[in-house]
Amino acid sequence: MAARILVAYATRKGSTAEIAQAVGKELQSAGHEAAVSEMKAVKSVGGYDAFVLGAPVYMHKIIELGKFAKRFRDELGSRPVAVFGVGMAPVSKKPGEVEEESNLLSASVTPINPVSVALFAGKVDPAQFNFLMRRMVESDKTMVGDFRDWNAIAAWARDLPEKMGL
Ligand SMILES: Cc1cc2nc3c(=O)[nH]c(=O)nc-3n(C[C@H](O)[C@H](O)[C@H](O)COP(=O)(O)O)c2cc1C
Repeated sequence: MAARILVAYATRKGSTAEIAQAVGKELQSAGHEAAVSEMKAVKSVGGYDAFVLGAPVYMHKIIELGKFAKRFRDELGSRPVAVFGVGMAPVSKKPGEVEEESNLLSASVTPINPVSVALFAGKVDPAQFNFLMRRMVESDKTMVGDFRDWNAIAAWARDLPEKMGL
């Protein structure tokens, strides 16, 4: 039976939003009803059978995810939840960073135990930055470019219904 799934995302520069749309499309192709919405715009999570939550990493912190999980903890706690993060750690290859950020993702949604936690490579486009962000990227030696792996994202999304027991 078709499940109703909410894909809720946080974003500053749009790359996580596009990943959330791609996840939603895969779920729809599998016959489910997937609504894709920015976390800030979500007023209620009633009526959904499962949730996919995505947020980017900025300066070693996951933005907005913890707040969203806390806000809707009762509803999220009683349904399957999958989580994805977006950042440069998967391509920057700084030792331990992927593990550290994956742990941050899981910790952000505690006490929820997600059915799956993924960290996808994101996009850094200096043309989108103001002066302060450019300084932050330089000081952190963040990589520049669009490293989103659409095949990996689609493959992850395709596996979700089974992991969610839908
Ligand atoms: C100022 C700045 C700081 C960042 N810090 C991190 C970081 O600590 N870890 C990481 O993996 N990626 C980091 N990134 C990469 C972002 O997570 C990546 O650009 C992501 O795709 C942004 O998502 P958005 O376009 O949805 O805002 C940083 C990017 C910027 C511009």
